[in-house]
Amino acid sequence: MSFTTHILRRGLSTGVLRMAAVNHVTVIGGGSMGNGIAQVTAQAGCQVTMVDQTDEILQKSVNTISKSLQRVVKKKFADDPSKGEEFIKGIMGNISTSTDAPGAVANTDLVIEAIIENMDIKKKLFTELDKVAKESTIFASNTSSLSITEMASVTQRQDRFGGLHFFNPVPMMKLVEVVRIPQTSDATYDTLVEYCKKIGKTTVSCKDTPGFIVNRLLVPYMMEAVRLVERGDASPKDTDIAMKLGAGYPMGPIELADYVGVDVCKFILDGWHEKYPDNPLFNPSPLINKLVSEGKLGRKTGEGFYKY
Ligand code: NAI
Repeated sequence: MSFTTHILRRGLSTGVLRMAAVNHVTVIGGGSMGNGIAQVTAQAGCQVTMVDQTDEILQKSVNTISKSLQRVVKKKFADDPSKGEEFIKGIMGNISTSTDAPGAVANTDLVIEAIIENMDIKKKLFTELDKVAKESTIFASNTSSLSITEMASVTQRQDRFGGLHFFNPVPMMKLVEVVRIPQTSDATYDTLVEYCKKIGKTTVSCKDTPGFIVNRLLVPYMMEAVRLVERGDASPKDTDIAMKLGAGYPMGPIELADYVGVDVCKFILDGWHEKYPDNPLFNPSPLINKLVSEGKLGRKTGEGFYKY
């Protein structure tokens, strides 16, 4: 057998060299991002297994999905509630849950990791999963700020590894940034793009660079607004009004920081500052640090820059 024939056969038999169909997806982490990703994937007709640490968390995630679908149904089937019920039942039927991550990836086409933003924990997870997932399974991380290349380095499937960066709330936000590391194969990239199309998202392609496209622009912008407030140049309210009415943004930068989570902003900023200490855009913010130390993390805790 010639070398080319061998490679072609290998490709056809393992699916490594060609785009593969994604029919089953395992989402690890059923938090705000994970349950959104599970929902849109199930809505597109794929089978989904959602994994988290406890059954209680998973029950909450399932309830969140169910509530979100009820909102869809209210609009879509306003005149026919029984059709709406059927619609929800069909989608929920595509979702199963598990607390056993290795067991849940044994026979899946795509793993999307959406657990806590911590490199060591993510690496530990991918090391474990790499041992048990089938050869053709593609791994993707939904990380906002960590290096995908570093995560992939603990696996033997760097050509079948990439980033799928969704936005919050996942069912509403149209975009997914598809991140290629240098080793990501064309077949893997094409499969990831095809999966995103299937779930109704628009993709943009980006290399594995801090913040990809959206956060690389958005985080420094939010931080400039925070520094403006920090210096006493303008109030949070005026800063938000200014950007909404003067720049046409749907949400002001300070409101956005509260929505994203003040702790999340701090985490991203501190991580980038550690990596790029000479870039002043990534300098730590005393005001952000103070809010985090007081537990004022934004909307989720009832208070951040604003009270809710
Ligand atoms: P979250 O805190 O709402 O959810 C994380 C979930 O992962 C929790 O339910 C937790 O129990 C679970 N988890 C933690 N360790 C686990 C493990 N070893 N195995 C299984 N489950 C585990 O966090 P969120 O906001 O959903 O973020 C998840 C990922 O998505 C992070 O990497 C974050 O950077 C990224 N991301 C977040 C966005 C956001 O706006 N919240 C936007 C885009 C990406």
